[in-house]
Amino acid sequence: MKQNIYDNEIFFKGYTSLRNSGKTYNDFIEQPAIKSVLPSLDGKNILDLGCGAGDFAKYCIENGASKVVGIDISKNMIEYANKENNHEKINYICTSIEDLDLQNHKFDLIVSSLAVHYIADYSATIEKVTSLLNKNGEFIFSTEHPIVTARKKMSNWVDDNEGNRLHWALDNYQEEGEQHWYIDGVIKYHRTISTLINTLINKGLVLEKIIEPQSIPTGLEKMPKLINEKRRPSFIVIKAKKSSLER
Ligand SMILES: C[S@@+](CC[C@H](N)C(=O)[O-])C[C@H]1O[C@@H](n2cnc3c(N)ncnc32)[C@H](O)[C@@H]1O
Repeated sequence: MKQNIYDNEIFFKGYTSLRNSGKTYNDFIEQPAIKSVLPSLDGKNILDLGCGAGDFAKYCIENGASKVVGIDISKNMIEYANKENNHEKINYICTSIEDLDLQNHKFDLIVSSLAVHYIADYSATIEKVTSLLNKNGEFIFSTEHPIVTARKKMSNWVDDNEGNRLHWALDNYQEEGEQHWYIDGVIKYHRTISTLINTLINKGLVLEKIIEPQSIPTGLEKMPKLINEKRRPSFIVIKAKKSSLER
């Protein structure tokens, strides 16, 4: 099932106002981690899967990329990206990752920030990514950490009677599949670390780096609760490369 919660007007408004606050998990944890593993972007042809408002696409151009294609299932997001992060070297396309059909296109780098956990068929996604990469091309993506997606309720923090946080209760880890989010009808998909990694390997990618990021120091000043990332990670960032032997 393809999901498009970002075209729900109330959700979209809330999301964009949160992102525009500049005080989010993305700003202090996820984006710094993604950027820390980027190769040189000079002259690169880049695909951003689930590009959202286009900030990352713009960042790539500002850092030397020759061309970026940003795709997103949400009309709202693509409109916003075209308005706020428009550039002659960026092409935003409103389509889902599942339906994306870019035959005859190849990319040096494919990036996907926090979109993969919305996709039901991870294996097909990785197969598509591999087919769209040039030889030696790289794939960098972030997704919610399996420690966090293995849950039946919104939060697995356990507090004592005085409200002191005791621990994160990891449970149902091996039970892959749909996890219902706090918004009705929104599904995120839980996958184990081995599924995330072995699928990449099976589809012909070579693992280069994994990060389980914590907050950067500014984040801890501006959002003290990010200290909890030391106790359990919210995200995982994975970098893989297409081998020069693959077609
Ligand atoms: C958490 S937002 C991240 C946006 C952007 N990557 C960023 O980091 O700012 C997730 C994005 O993935 C998009 N998305 C979710 N499911 C998708 C799908 N099946 N195909 C394409 N985009 C999808 C959403 O519309 C949303 O823009």
